Amino acid sequence: MKYIDIDFNNKTILITGAAGFIGSNLCFYFQENFPEAKIIALDCFRSGETFSNGNLKSFGHFKNLIGFKGTVISGDINDKEILLNLENEYKFDYIFHQAAISDTTVSEQDLMVKTNVNAYEDLLKLAIKHKANMIYASSAATYGDASSPQTVGNESPNNVYGFSKLMMDNITYSYLKKGLDISIVGLRYFNVYGPKEFFKNKTASTVVQFAHQLLKGNAPKLFEGSDKILRDFIYIEDVIQANIKACSPKKSGIYNVGTGKARSFQDIADILQKELGTSFQTEYIPNPYIGQYQFHTEANVQASKEELGFEARFELEDGIKAYIPEIKRLFEQEVK
Ligand SMILES: NC(=O)c1ccc[n+]([C@@H]2O[C@H](COP(=O)([O-])OP(=O)(O)OC[C@H]3O[C@@H](n4cnc5c(N)ncnc54)[C@H](O)[C@@H]3O)[C@@H](O)[C@H]2O)c1
Repeated sequence: MKYIDIDFNNKTILITGAAGFIGSNLCFYFQENFPEAKIIALDCFRSGETFSNGNLKSFGHFKNLIGFKGTVISGDINDKEILLNLENEYKFDYIFHQAAISDTTVSEQDLMVKTNVNAYEDLLKLAIKHKANMIYASSAATYGDASSPQTVGNESPNNVYGFSKLMMDNITYSYLKKGLDISIVGLRYFNVYGPKEFFKNKTASTVVQFAHQLLKGNAPKLFEGSDKILRDFIYIEDVIQANIKACSPKKSGIYNVGTGKARSFQDIADILQKELGTSFQTEYIPNPYIGQYQFHTEANVQASKEELGFEARFELEDGIKAYIPEIKRLFEQEVK
């Protein structure tokens, strides 16, 4: 699917966070639709090191890039030398910046701000030098407990991750004031699910985690009150659509990437049970994240529609249905 009228063949494209969930999907999008595009895939890849919450410092995994034919570089976006090498070796037309500490439960504020905020500004400077359009990942976590529908301009992050993404957006606004000759688009993804998220382990979406519980023969475990915990779940294909449309925005800026509909965790469990042909009784467990947890997210997608021409094509039912064969493959090859 081409989405817009740009021919990316013969363009040089930097994708950061390319061994992660969204970055690797972008790599394959370009490879499949624009085989002559020159894709540079940068990621620090996992080393086994963990944060104090016990989760991996990097979720990048080589398996997300099996079949990828572009250039793969293992490097840290905090490393100025790497950025200088990229600046000298290439002339980028587009930068899709997905690399980040993506785990919302990480509490190391120093590394979070350095990696997510400061390295973004360095990459933005590189984009400006190369006259490359910048498309980067912001997040619905910038909204925290702000009321629904979440709207750009009304943020209230409740963890350092959400704060870091909001600081990226503030940097964007300050650069846009300078009147640049590139476009900069920050995309506030809501809850993304779909193929290539599996290696995010416990931070992968509930869709894949619930599905594998069901396939193991276990009842789905939901937090108490899960019918009242509502989120805007967006399928990966729609996130790719948003990234591509963000290459020729009517106006640079920050945009929501959601369906505009809030659905419950109970809905996910119910749709999965139907798709997988199971009928377990749900088990309810206490929610340990009260206070740090978003209870109702629903993207205001009006500006995304008007300025990017973005509109989600997948309802939760459609996204899960499309994802089921990959969920089953993962279960056979990675879980069992
Ligand atoms: N998946 C979601 O639901 C969601 C929602 C909102 C925002 N986002 C944002 O979208 C982007 C992509 O998220 P994802 O779900 O693909 O997560 P991911 O963790 O799978 O991908 C991020 C990638 O960045 C890499 N990375 C981390 N630190 C790095 C560093 N210092 N140098 C180089 N590479 C580094 C990791 O190895 C990983 O492969 C992130 O910026 C994330 O914050 C994701």
